[in-house]
Amino acid sequence: MKPTIESLMKQSSKLLKVYGFERPRHESVIILKDILKKSYVDILSNSDLKISIAEKNKILENLFKRLKGKPLSKISGVKEFYSRQFITSKDTLDPRPDTELIVDVVKNLSKDFTKKKLNILDVGTGSACIIITITLELMSKLNICATGLDISKRALLVAKKNLIKFNLNNKVNLIQSNWFDNLDNKFDLIISNPPYIKKNDLAKLSKEVLHDPLISLEGGLTGLRSYFKIAKEVHKYIKKDGFVILEIGIGQLKQVDNIFLNQGFRRILKEKDLQGIDRVVVYQYKSTKYIV
Ligand SMILES: C[S@@+](CC[C@H](N)C(=O)[O-])C[C@H]1O[C@@H](n2cnc3c(N)ncnc32)[C@H](O)[C@@H]1O
Repeated sequence: MKPTIESLMKQSSKLLKVYGFERPRHESVIILKDILKKSYVDILSNSDLKISIAEKNKILENLFKRLKGKPLSKISGVKEFYSRQFITSKDTLDPRPDTELIVDVVKNLSKDFTKKKLNILDVGTGSACIIITITLELMSKLNICATGLDISKRALLVAKKNLIKFNLNNKVNLIQSNWFDNLDNKFDLIISNPPYIKKNDLAKLSKEVLHDPLISLEGGLTGLRSYFKIAKEVHKYIKKDGFVILEIGIGQLKQVDNIFLNQGFRRILKEKDLQGIDRVVVYQYKSTKYIV
């Protein structure tokens, strides 16, 4: 017999609850809406609608993936970032709410920009959530020329899908590169949320985080490998008065500051995330005028 939306939602919520998921009904709606290609509200307001057996089977398949600990975003293939839905996959880090702070910092800095044209580079672009959001947020007032680079070809395929989704295919350039190896131009803003988890801390991460690719998480034994690499080379690619804007991990502020100070940069800003953790830092090359 064909089940209704409500009966399947009840069954799946019950199972999710037994398995200890905190928002079982919400998660059920998401699983159902993806397969039935309906909105969240449609699911809730059409609860007596009958579902085909094929749809039911697909819903159960996804429910079991969820019960085994796969993140909802990796099941549905989408994750929200700055109120937009980004395509994501096993080859990309799921965009995180903390990373939205980078967008806020860039938006704030942009209020003082005197230039009308801005060249922006996103190092380790992954799904391209940062560079796409910044472009969409700023393009009505500035002429944005944006580039996202990543070492992972597969992540870049996902980034490309997002560019097409947000109609930015002609506006944002994608480059496959091991850090700055394949770059030869300079930028006003260089942004990065690099891999920064200590190798030995990976095992302590939640099961869900471990569905993200290792290359997007692991920052070597100290967690600082990416910052050393970026700090050493970034001056060749930053324009005079340009900014380097980075996400950092918990407790990394002092060490990242030292790495950049040693390479001739000064920190001009730091911002805390919603949990009060120093999360985003902004540096300028010392030869540039001090602005804060
Ligand atoms: C923490 S993820 C950030 C992804 C995305 N920018 C975000 O904030 O959601 C780090 C990204 O850096 C990329 N990456 C790692 N090593 C790299 C390297 N040597 N050169 C370029 N990109 C690298 C990974 O593939 C991954 O996409």
